[in-house]
Amino acid sequence: MMVLGLQGSPRKNGNTEILLSTFMDTAKQSGAETCVINVYEQKINPCIECSMCEKIGTCSIQDEMNQEIYPLLRRADIVVLASPIFFYNVTAPLKALIDRTQTFWSRKYRLNMEDPRRKNRKGFLLAIGATKGKTLFHGTIATAKYFFDAIGATSLGQLTYPRIEERGEINQHPTAIADAKQNALEAVSPLLKRKKILFACQENACRSQMAAAFTQYYAGDKIEAVCGGSRPGESIHPNMVQVMQEVGIDMGFITPQTIEKALQHVQPDVIVTMGCGEKDCPFIPGVRIIDWGIEDPSKKPIEAMRHVRDDILKRVQDLAETIN
Ligand SMILES: Cc1cc2nc3c(=O)[nH]c(=O)nc-3n(C[C@H](O)[C@H](O)[C@H](O)COP(=O)(O)O)c2cc1C
Repeated sequence: MMVLGLQGSPRKNGNTEILLSTFMDTAKQSGAETCVINVYEQKINPCIECSMCEKIGTCSIQDEMNQEIYPLLRRADIVVLASPIFFYNVTAPLKALIDRTQTFWSRKYRLNMEDPRRKNRKGFLLAIGATKGKTLFHGTIATAKYFFDAIGATSLGQLTYPRIEERGEINQHPTAIADAKQNALEAVSPLLKRKKILFACQENACRSQMAAAFTQYYAGDKIEAVCGGSRPGESIHPNMVQVMQEVGIDMGFITPQTIEKALQHVQPDVIVTMGCGEKDCPFIPGVRIIDWGIEDPSKKPIEAMRHVRDDILKRVQDLAETIN
């Protein structure tokens, strides 16, 4: 369960950083994995409106957005957008990041693919400004709403604080720190309560990826699904990406990972193996292992991949119904 914070202020130990850290520390202490991106430390170029994402679903600009931030946004269960108000909106680097998520918007609304985590991902806004006008947060709240929709997140709400100007002044606010802790707890608690399943195979390029994605999509409210491979491949299988796209599931921005990496932040309740043989299967004392024994479709024609996809979907649906 991963909470991703987008820290939009250039000021170290500023109000935004303090409020976001409070939220993230509470999430971490509750058991979530956390990750913060300080947008002023990243090289995020603005969108150049080349329309490539609308045609093929990827961005033409090669920078940290492509290499790191898209995959993190896809992996996150909760995204916290945190910014000081600069001219009635988020700061410029944060706006550049938001504009670049047009890639996700295009994949959903132009190419008709659903992010597997879309139904369960949450978004939360933290914003701070110096003045007190009635409309101070209107622009930012609207921007956040459409950003959360583009990245496949449902907004849980926001905390907005006017009349906070000097560095660290947020600490003197009567409720802000307690509010951030309380909202963090409320955001992470339902997601932390889910059953945890590790789907494992050798390369983490086809079967375990499909199983995890279907579980996230159809049962992500009650199961946290991770996947890994004993000998992960370099990339996921193009046939797998295609057959998942045929059923509307977006496998973009995913790379195979080791079982150890998958288990770094998750203690599984159940391990589901795909049938790679005992020496490749993970063993964790006390954890139930179910072996699905599914044929490896990676070196077969695409029809075999479709067959395996349908088989896995049925097994995931049965598992989701029976797990408790
Ligand atoms: C370039 C710039 C533009 C700003 N624009 C606004 C604004 O439109 N409305 C406002 O209330 N405060 C504005 N502020 C003030 C900051 O939002 C405020 O000082 C905030 O507490 C800074 O948060 P931080 O410590 O996290 O950076 C602006 C500050 C800067 C430097």
